[in-house]
Parts: sequence; structure tokens; C-alpha cells
Amino acid sequence: MSDPTILLPSPSSDLVAGLVRLEQAIDRARPLRGKHRATLPREVATLSEMLTYERDSLPPDYMSRPAHLSAYLRWFLPWNIYRQGRLLAGLPLDLPAEPRLLDVGAGPLTFACALWLARPELRDRPLQILAVDRSEAALKAGRQVLTELAGGKLPWRIELQGRAAGGRMGPPCDLLVAANLLNELGGERASRRRRGPDQQGDERLLEAWQKQLAPDGRILLVERGVRTAAARLVRLRAAALEHDWQVVAPCPHGEACPLPGKRSGSWCHFACDTAGMPAWVERIGRSAQLPTERVSLSFLLLGRGETAAADPDVVRVVSDNFALDGGGRGRYGCTADGLVVLTGRGPVVSGELVRVKRPDRTTRDPRSGAMLLPLPVGGGGRRRR
Ligand SMILES: C[S@@+](CC[C@H](N)C(=O)[O-])C[C@H]1O[C@@H](n2cnc3c(N)ncnc32)[C@H](O)[C@@H]1O
Repeated sequence: MSDPTILLPSPSSDLVAGLVRLEQAIDRARPLRGKHRATLPREVATLSEMLTYERDSLPPDYMSRPAHLSAYLRWFLPWNIYRQGRLLAGLPLDLPAEPRLLDVGAGPLTFACALWLARPELRDRPLQILAVDRSEAALKAGRQVLTELAGGKLPWRIELQGRAAGGRMGPPCDLLVAANLLNELGGERASRRRRGPDQQGDERLLEAWQKQLAPDGRILLVERGVRTAAARLVRLRAAALEHDWQVVAPCPHGEACPLPGKRSGSWCHFACDTAGMPAWVERIGRSAQLPTERVSLSFLLLGRGETAAADPDVVRVVSDNFALDGGGRGRYGCTADGLVVLTGRGPVVSGELVRVKRPDRTTRDPRSGAMLLPLPVGGGGRRRR
């Protein structure tokens, strides 16, 4: 694992090389013949539109439709492996010696592929993954892709369940993962129609997931870094805190979230460059007229058990660098006391955890009202988590 104070470390050479090999792995698992190769950019653009803006028009079986599955494999799979791979490289998953994972809405085993590429130290462990998705076609394509990435022989035990999530999904697991799933769940569609949050639905979801977990099991939720997804995670976070969960990451505290993503306000998300993204993905992006310069994500890692009291001097950087109204540069940070603005120049990046020293006199950013805190001279004052 890399420096745990950096949330989205630069991609490792394994991740970069794996993404290059992914093209051939997908072509073997799901070959595209002439006419379909020519229409791929249009299929990618259509699916992107449906997944981003027209969620309610998404047919529940979209991942089983050949054109959508091909487009997902060649566009969303590499980007999600990239996002999840960079996140996983620095995340404290605390897996036991023989870990059991449950991936709900696993699609083409995106998370398993990202874990394989980003955490090579886990490759020799007797890891078991139960992947549940209502599209069996996506699961099967994913298993083939992952086996190719692993060089033809996969040491992990992967069980596929092609069905809707719910009921008992296998034995208790150490980590339950749901990535890019929340806004496809039935309750979420209903709340969109009602135009209001469904607090009881959040509690029911957490309760159902809790039943799947071993006593020290954790839950990892990863979504794209858009406002609606982040706001949904913030609501789930609040419900989890009320039911004695702790937020292992990204929050450095268990107080109310200062970036809940309500109406026009900011939302909690982390962005990074796309260094190391292979040329074949960029090519598809260009022909589908989709951006490839930045990626962002929102996430929540929940755990049980004792945690140290929140340290108010520890700040999670939650934005890029921006110009302050009164001159100089700043970036937003999240602390147990709410939102702050970190001032000064330092090599800190979105998502980083830094330790600050509070000045004797409190001053505030006129635009946001957030407390201004100077970065320690020479950088972010990185700390171990
Ligand atoms: C956007 S994809 C995400 C796939 C993968 N987790 C990723 O990060 O790339 C959402 C997946 O959830 C599946 N899905 C949606 N609702 C589901 C449900 N109720 N039960 C099981 N799978 C579901 C879809 O079939 C689809 O494969």
C-alpha cells in the first residue's frame, strides 16, 4: 500500500500496464466484429448519456444487452478500474489472511480487476469474491477479463450470482463493496420520483448489508464524483453514524458533513488527473466526444469498533487549488469543526490528509465563511493515518 495520507496516489506501473492489456483482454472476452466496431463510439456516447442524465430511462437489463455491455466494457470498465485502482492503492481495507469479499452490482468485475492491478500483495492470498449482478453476461465477461489480466490463471476464487441483490448473498464477508450501484437501486429511483430522500430506505439498505458482514466487516461504497451521488453517500453516512458505524475514510471526523451537496452548495468529491490512461481509451473518448482529462469520485469506507477521537488539526483536502477573493491561493478542507480554507502554497493535492497548526487569531474566507488555516511551511505536514 502506498502513503496512506494520499487518497489517490499516482497510478502504479502495474495499474498502467494492466490498463494497456485490458484492451486485448476485453477483445478476447467479447470480440467486436466490423459493423459493431464502427458503431462503438455512438454506443458509448448513448450509454454515457443514459448513465449520467437519463437514469430513469435505463432499462434494468441494460448490462445484458450486447451493445450496452460492449460499450460498458470498452469505456466505463477502464475508467472505473482507473478510479477504483487509484483509490484502492491507498485505502486501509484491513483484510484478514483469508478474505471474503461481496461485490453487489459487480458488473464486469470492475472492483476485482482494480484490486488485482492496484494491490499486488493480495494476489497470493486465498481471496474469495462473491459477485452479484442481475446481468450474468456482465459477470461472465468480467471473469474472463480478470483471468486474462491475471495471465490466464486466477488464484482467487470467484463465485458469480446472476440475480438481483437481496436476501442472503453467501456467507459473512469481510468487505462488502457496492460501486456505481446506488442510483440504480429501486429505492433510489422511487426517491427521484418523489424528489426527496428516503431515510428509511437508507436504514433498510444498511441493515441488509450489515447482515452480510462478518463481525469486523467493512463496507466500501464508491460512486462517481457528481453532486447527486455524493449527496446520496452523505445521507447514507448520516444513517450509518446513527447506527454506530464509524467512517474509516474519507472523513477525518464523525460530525455532520460540511459538504452535503444540497442545491447549489459544494459536494464531497475528489478529483485527479488521468496520467497513465492508455491511448486506446483516449481514442474511444475522442471519437465519442467524451472528456478524458480529469476523473473524480466520491466514496465511503465504513467500519465498526473503536476509533480515536477526531483530531481537529487533521484536515482532508477536498478541492483543487483556487484563487481567494482577498488574493493568494487556497483549497477547501474538511475538519471536525466544519469546512476550512487552507491557505498558502504547498504541494498538497485533492484528497490528501494534512496536519495544521491553528493560528492564535481566527480569520475567515469572505466568500464561504470558512476558517482560514495556513498550510505548514514547506508542504502539507503529512501525517500517518
Ligand atoms: C453502473 S454498473 C457498475 C458496475 C461495477 N460495479 C462498476 O463499478 O463498474 C451497475 C451494475 O449494477 C447492476 N445492478 C443494478 N441494480 C441491481 C440490483 N438490484 N441487483 C443486482 N445488480 C444490480 C447492473 O446490472 C450493473 O451491472
